[in-house]
Amino acid sequence: MRRVKRSSPTSPAAAAAAAAALLVAFSALAGLCDAGKTSTFVRKDEKAVDMPLDSDVFRVPPGYNAPQQVHITQGDHDGSAIIVSWVTPDEPGSSLVLYGTSENHLTFSAEGRVHQYKYYNYTSGYIHHCNIRNLKYDTKYYYAVGVGHTLRKFWFTTPPKVGPDVPYTFGLIGDLGQSFDSNRTLTHYESNPIKGQTVLFVGDLSYADNYMYHDNVRWDTWGRFTERSAAYQPWIWTAGNHEIDFAPEIGEGVPFKPYKNRYHVPYKASGSTAPFWYSIKRASAYIIVLASYSAYGKYTPQYKWLEAELPKVNRTETPWLIVLMHSPWYNSYNYHYMEGETMRVIYESWFVKYKVDVVFAGHVHAYERSERISNIAYNIVNGQCNPVPDQSAPVYITIGDGGNQEGLAKNMTEPQPKYSAFREASFGHAIFDVKNRTHAYYSWHRNQDGYSVEADTLLFYNRFWHPLEESSASV
Ligand SMILES: [Fe+2]
Repeated sequence: MRRVKRSSPTSPAAAAAAAAALLVAFSALAGLCDAGKTSTFVRKDEKAVDMPLDSDVFRVPPGYNAPQQVHITQGDHDGSAIIVSWVTPDEPGSSLVLYGTSENHLTFSAEGRVHQYKYYNYTSGYIHHCNIRNLKYDTKYYYAVGVGHTLRKFWFTTPPKVGPDVPYTFGLIGDLGQSFDSNRTLTHYESNPIKGQTVLFVGDLSYADNYMYHDNVRWDTWGRFTERSAAYQPWIWTAGNHEIDFAPEIGEGVPFKPYKNRYHVPYKASGSTAPFWYSIKRASAYIIVLASYSAYGKYTPQYKWLEAELPKVNRTETPWLIVLMHSPWYNSYNYHYMEGETMRVIYESWFVKYKVDVVFAGHVHAYERSERISNIAYNIVNGQCNPVPDQSAPVYITIGDGGNQEGLAKNMTEPQPKYSAFREASFGHAIFDVKNRTHAYYSWHRNQDGYSVEADTLLFYNRFWHPLEESSASV
């Protein structure tokens, strides 16, 4: 009888089997057995073309010197102030904002400031900014700008007082531009049955810099286009590369000139020294806005600010820690690939240490959501330079799919990296709907579907209060 030799632990076959078993066990442990999903959705192929200047969405409000491009943003750190901004085209006019809680009795007023700027051969209208402070929380206010026949009325609702279980609904829009698709995305956001209360905008606003001499008239049209949302709910601004407008060849050597003049943010309230990085608290969220196009290396003002800022976040007061930036750290499209890498290397370990819940970025004109991963072990010599599952790490979402004229990013790196949970080359917007300190419902919406269609969802578990692994659904 021939004896069958039992495999010894040292035989090649046994070693291979053991290695395979280890790999399976490790993969299961890592939660990355299943590769991410690349959507099979087939989009109607249309060119993203800018809407012509005579489009109805760009209509100038009637009347001499009527205020236009009205938009609001948070005006302090806690949400009891609002900055109202607008442009009067013909003369300075009044910088006064009338406001009150009754539509026909605007009993309060606040005085703003007016200024102009020049950019090459363009001179802006009269840009007004007025910070209205000491508002009551969770209250609907009506406000009016302009004078006489051209007085224009709008309204906004202040957020509830900051607190750990305050529900609040954020919209996410990035890289919007002013194409027909931009308009479709904004309409989808407005018509979404889940009503966003504040837009977190991840940069790249007007794309005026794609025009000859950065034609700033396209900043004006963008301001008129977005007024229908931005005059009624705050848009929280992030600076993108299309805000830089650095053009020394035409004598414009000061970066961010149009953006800085037109879009004010409450950066001083969070101890920041520049309007490109700052933070706000809103309801149960702490939102940190970072600047991909300002210095962020060690010893820079942004680095020092963020280093001091993160320990200040009190998750008992604001459980949800959200970061906005323009250039994504994790992106598996063949566009802007690794552009966010240097900032990731510098800041990522802080995001893990302080358990950031989610990072929203734009820049890449498509949609992508990551697993919870980090890549912070590498020290030059140890070779540990791959993203690994990490339940203390944020989910990274690229939402640069507003619909600007540059079109979609369709070319993806293959195979899809394991850290990429879901990706699709479509335009759209998202909603981050905070329910309480433990749960937030996130949904992404293509701009070609019905208004209620959710193409990707994730029930977020808060990293501080409920740090379990989530499971997602994508269609
Ligand atoms: Fe960009």
